[in-house]
Amino acid sequence: MEHSVTVSDGEQPFRAAANRSVLESALRENRWLPHACSQGTCGTCKIRVLCGEVDHGRVDDAVLSEAERASGLALACQASPRTDLTVAPLNEAAPAGPRHPLRDHTGTVLELADIARCTRRLVVELDEPMEFSAGQYAELIVPGSGVARQYSMANPPFESRRLEFHVRKVDGGLATEGWIFGSLRPGDRIELRGPLGQFALVRPQGEPAILIGGGTGLAPLKSIVRHALSEDLVPGIDLYHGGRGQADLYDVDFFRALEAADSRFRYHPVLSEEQWDGATGMVTDVVLDDFASCRGRSAYLCGPPAMVTAAVKALKRRRMAPRSIFKEEFTVGA
Ligand code: FES
Repeated sequence: MEHSVTVSDGEQPFRAAANRSVLESALRENRWLPHACSQGTCGTCKIRVLCGEVDHGRVDDAVLSEAERASGLALACQASPRTDLTVAPLNEAAPAGPRHPLRDHTGTVLELADIARCTRRLVVELDEPMEFSAGQYAELIVPGSGVARQYSMANPPFESRRLEFHVRKVDGGLATEGWIFGSLRPGDRIELRGPLGQFALVRPQGEPAILIGGGTGLAPLKSIVRHALSEDLVPGIDLYHGGRGQADLYDVDFFRALEAADSRFRYHPVLSEEQWDGATGMVTDVVLDDFASCRGRSAYLCGPPAMVTAAVKALKRRRMAPRSIFKEEFTVGA
């Protein structure tokens, strides 16, 4: 069964299936609604239901309280339509946000390799190309369970059929220990859907960029680096990658070779719990030491929430404009 959804942006209504979230139906129709996690945890997708009724789905009270629901708010990534709807997003769309339709895809596992402590690279060749923006993510479907897990593409958009993901193992995790670190083999068929997310390289106004990633938060940043350099979108990029020890770093040779080949790019691996001949300490403290001022630069941050919060604070201390800071908080998919 389908319903019609009208968004307060004045565009034509779109059709939304009763068994899909409002967000998923919108993205499949190439209609943009603000969102980030698509799992009901961040609150970015809050909408006000101006007319009609929704099934709220699974909602965590900490993200959308009962009082908010009673006042007509819903999470677009969880709520499905019970009737025709008119809705208004609470948050503004990302500045020059990505606009690619959400699609189901199938592909074949090309590569599965251990690249760092509890971290695997998964490379999938899609049967059909997927359009996406550097920084976005896809949902991999765990076979036989219907469960979906989100992983950012680490490849640039011009590699639209060969997707690279960096996966961190979670002990006992259905998708990680049970599948990607367990039964999955090269040659296996895989289902996924994408792209999703509004963390993406905003068309810069000639600003140099600072990229800060923790753990597998490096994945979308690698996509942004390769895309930005190949399209000559930024005059300079400083990439910081934080880990506890050398065992947590990966793609070091790749980034060092890129740094040697391209004077616009600088690579800064940082270790928080191990002495070595490189930078040590908290990655955000190293950024503070390296830049007397971040005014006139933009930043892209992806990692654990504590790292992202510390990075935002550090960059503001160095006078970076808040509107130039783009962040993706890392959710560990088990
Ligand atoms: Fe819906 Fe995060 S809560 S996108």
